[in-house]
Amino acid sequence: MSDSTRLDGQVAIVTGAAQGIGQGIALVLAEAGAKIVIGDIQDASGTIDQIQGEGKGEAVCMLMDTSRAADARRLINLAIDLHKKVDILVNNAAIDAPDGNAWDLPDDEWQRTIDVNLTGVFNCSKAALEPMLAQGSGCIVNISSRSAEAGAKGLSPAYNASKAGVLGLTRGFSAQVSDHGVRVNAIMPSLVESRDFGWTPEEAAERRAQYPLGTGTPKDIGEAVRYLVSPAARWVSGTALQLTGGYQG
Ligand SMILES: NC(=O)c1ccc[n+]([C@@H]2O[C@H](COP(=O)([O-])OP(=O)(O)OC[C@H]3O[C@@H](n4cnc5c(N)ncnc54)[C@H](O)[C@@H]3O)[C@@H](O)[C@H]2O)c1
Repeated sequence: MSDSTRLDGQVAIVTGAAQGIGQGIALVLAEAGAKIVIGDIQDASGTIDQIQGEGKGEAVCMLMDTSRAADARRLINLAIDLHKKVDILVNNAAIDAPDGNAWDLPDDEWQRTIDVNLTGVFNCSKAALEPMLAQGSGCIVNISSRSAEAGAKGLSPAYNASKAGVLGLTRGFSAQVSDHGVRVNAIMPSLVESRDFGWTPEEAAERRAQYPLGTGTPKDIGEAVRYLVSPAARWVSGTALQLTGGYQG
């Protein structure tokens, strides 16, 4: 039986894939056969080495800032120059606003969070839609968060708001482009142990205890992206897939 989640020959752009969840997504999509183009504000050659090191993958990276529209266009142009098309865009790059109360948040921290986490998704989507609409096909996956719908003490309201905005962009773009052959979806992860969060052993145990299936890994998110961008999800657009390890809070 053929595997309907193979992505052989497809060109996938992943933002923020130098580390963490973005790196996990890039590795899974490469494993599925996609050619990877990474845009990150930091050097992503570690991810490139992992993809190429396994002897089968093809990947390049570009230093860029998703919050700048001109950088978003440069990233899409790199993919077009190299591969003549863009099939997949994964808007993963984001920043955590500093922990703390809304009323303590400096104005520039609010603005930077919105610029990267929300405007960055808009910039890259807008730039990628040009070739996708011209070719009449494409898939965009936006990495939102469960915190788009669930506030938590210690989690910045700016981050929550930016991730809720990403859901709005997902639905809005989907409504406008799915009848042109382009599907747009979001993923809302709960806690993914994508990096060292600096917890004490007690804090780590307390958090992990909330997740019946354990906390997530970057690969878990990558596998969900693989499904959403594959032919297996041909009837899926404008939706947000919640990945929570069974946690329902
Ligand atoms: N880790 C979690 O528990 C969790 C949960 C829900 C959602 N998310 C979301 O998943 C995504 C990845 O999270 P992570 O934990 O891997 O984060 P991370 O901080 O480890 O990685 C983010 C990556 O994005 C890059 N980046 C940051 N700003 C950028 C910019 N302006 N332009 C280009 N690249 C930029 C960083 O250099 C980095 O490589 C984010 O959208 C995050 O909000 C994470």
